[in-house]
Amino acid sequence: MIDKDVLSAWEALQKGTQFSNLSKDQQQKLSRMNEILDQFLAANKYVFVSPMWNFSMPPMLKAYIDNITIVGKTFKYTETGPVGLLTDKKVLHIEARGGVYSYGPMQEFEMSDRYLHQLFTEFLGVPSFDKIIIEGIGQFPAEADKIKSRAILQAHELAKTF
Ligand SMILES: Cc1cc2nc3c(=O)[nH]c(=O)nc-3n(C[C@H](O)[C@H](O)[C@H](O)COP(=O)(O)O)c2cc1C
Repeated sequence: MIDKDVLSAWEALQKGTQFSNLSKDQQQKLSRMNEILDQFLAANKYVFVSPMWNFSMPPMLKAYIDNITIVGKTFKYTETGPVGLLTDKKVLHIEARGGVYSYGPMQEFEMSDRYLHQLFTEFLGVPSFDKIIIEGIGQFPAEADKIKSRAILQAHELAKTF
């Protein structure tokens, strides 16, 4: 996770400090973050499964996104602006929500799938972004089985092409 050790380590490295001269905490944190980034880069298909929390994603998922949105690795800056480097990858986002946001009055509040979609397709260059949204179970508990069955069916269908 990005904290003061990581930020100060990045700054020190940029100014020419050797990795071995960073503090033990800084070295450990950067090494773990690099491991996570390498694991991410080695994969071709990503499935993110998350609940909606306060209209957005849980902080653990945001921390992961911060770990893989790295200049020179997943995007680069050019004279005409940033360009995504994940041009041969696929993303699937599966999200559970208590209420309904795909349509209706709460649509504008939805900032999790929209964020991931925008980040991966427009910023990181991913050409294929699918989603399965399981929503409304909290608001309409009587509909829970129907909502769940629909999502499972959608997952089976998507599995054929993903
Ligand atoms: C901290 C917290 C915040 C939540 N915020 C929202 C929310 O903003 N909108 C919503 O529709 N549901 C919200 N929920 C409900 C969850 O999105 C819902 O229960 C979802 O099914 C969780 O997935 P899970 O059952 O796999 O944990 C929240 C739940 C928690 C625990």
